[in-house]
Amino acid sequence: MNATDRLPNILAISGSLRPNSSNNKVIDTATAMLAGKANVTLYDGLGKLPHFDDSKEEYAEVARWRQLLRQADGVLICSPEYAFGVPGSLKNALDWTVSSGELVYKPLALITAATGGDKAHAALLNTFRALSQM
Ligand SMILES: Cc1cc2nc3c(=O)[nH]c(=O)nc-3n(C[C@H](O)[C@H](O)[C@H](O)COP(=O)(O)O)c2cc1C
Repeated sequence: MNATDRLPNILAISGSLRPNSSNNKVIDTATAMLAGKANVTLYDGLGKLPHFDDSKEEYAEVARWRQLLRQADGVLICSPEYAFGVPGSLKNALDWTVSSGELVYKPLALITAATGGDKAHAALLNTFRALSQM
């Protein structure tokens, strides 16, 4: 295999911080299904990101999050819905990319594994629309 036909790198993000999360299991299943077709890495820093403050301060986890996104060929987001909305930790992570733009033109798949999930799904699609217009 040469450099041009390497496997694509997919960064997976689970909107759930819950141990035994069903969204993490969806990611595990996708990872198994993509074996030999893509390398899937689960982002493990969602709960470590500082609250978004629009500052220019160089937070280490924010720099790592942006770097992982830049290195990814595509992104897979799996998320629950909480109280008719997007989990705060996931929205926080997305807010950190607004000014730096890592998700602009990035191929992205979105799965919402929740009891219903339609409101969080629609809200996330709206956020991605906003990110691509910044
Ligand atoms: C506090 C709380 C609020 C929830 N609110 C919603 C909701 O508004 N809509 C929905 O579809 N599911 C809701 N759920 C269900 C979760 O989205 C569902 O259990 C999901 O699968 C949890 O994901 P996880 O297993 O990856 O942690 C809620 C769950 C909790 C604990």
